[in-house]
Amino acid sequence: MTADNQESFHDRMLSLGLARVSEAAAIASSRLIGRGDEHAADAAAVEAMRTQLNMLDIRGTVVIGEGERDEAPMLFIGEQVGTGKGDEVDIALDPLEGTTLTAKAMPNALTVVAMGPRHSMLHAPDVYMDKLAIGPGYAPGLIDLDMAPTERIRVFAKAKGCEPAEVTVCILERPRHADLIAEVRETGAAIRLITDGDVAGVMHCAQPDETGIDIYMGSGGAPEGVLAAAALKCMGGQIQGRLIFRNKDEIGRARDAGIEDLDAKYSRDDMVRAEVLFSATGVTDGSILRGAHRVGEYLETETLLMRSRTGSVRRLSYRTKHF
Ligand code: FBP
Repeated sequence: MTADNQESFHDRMLSLGLARVSEAAAIASSRLIGRGDEHAADAAAVEAMRTQLNMLDIRGTVVIGEGERDEAPMLFIGEQVGTGKGDEVDIALDPLEGTTLTAKAMPNALTVVAMGPRHSMLHAPDVYMDKLAIGPGYAPGLIDLDMAPTERIRVFAKAKGCEPAEVTVCILERPRHADLIAEVRETGAAIRLITDGDVAGVMHCAQPDETGIDIYMGSGGAPEGVLAAAALKCMGGQIQGRLIFRNKDEIGRARDAGIEDLDAKYSRDDMVRAEVLFSATGVTDGSILRGAHRVGEYLETETLLMRSRTGSVRRLSYRTKHF
């Protein structure tokens, strides 16, 4: 299915409203930073995000959400959000990307929401996705999921005009990545291991001068892959993803989501097929966004609000007494 209503997607008018959505989720979850309760932090973000989304004049459908209706009481996949007036849109969200990071007060927890015209985003099932991302300025398809990690680093280093030892790869620290990590180390490249939060991990590639990260590799949640694709559509950069199925139930989830080719390799523009809006607000301090902070009687947040059609990027700092 393609996005057939790009022209009726009033992204310019909707963009500032979307910033309020990620902001509200960050404010709500900020009370739970360092409290050891992942569930409470997530629940606070979900409720705040949903309340704000329902104030927007949209006819929104959640296509990437908190899970299936039977496992997620709010912001489940297929939930209708908005006032029911205005544009018909797809919503992809992760009210708290990095629940454990928030509970443990570790860096790079974000609240994330993307919006595009109806049928603009891949309905990714909640399975793993193998991901590979780089920032802007490189030839399309320069590196590929079908290349071995060693080859990806060799080709990338050549294009960047440096040695493999000067390349930094970001990888989620998981036992399943032991072979990947060992192979990347063999090339001499540096690795930034992250404990969680691969939306931020991928976004880091789009700003290598600030973050020091060139390539993102490895598997993480497929929904997070679509959100990362939306971010890179706005920031520039490439991402490829391929779904990983561990059992029949996961294959069934993909079939239910309308996926026909289980081995498909998705490019950024396969995952996000039209111009979109993307908003992320920092919960804990990170390389891209400052986290939510108490300053006197105020709470301050920082939001990255982007519109792919124009490549516009806003950094919004916000403070409120109402939190
Ligand atoms: P949560 O916000 O749900 O905790 O997800 C964090 C995250 O690290 C994602 O960024 C990533 O895609 C996924 O979990 C990885 O899954 P797993 O922890 O199973 O390796």
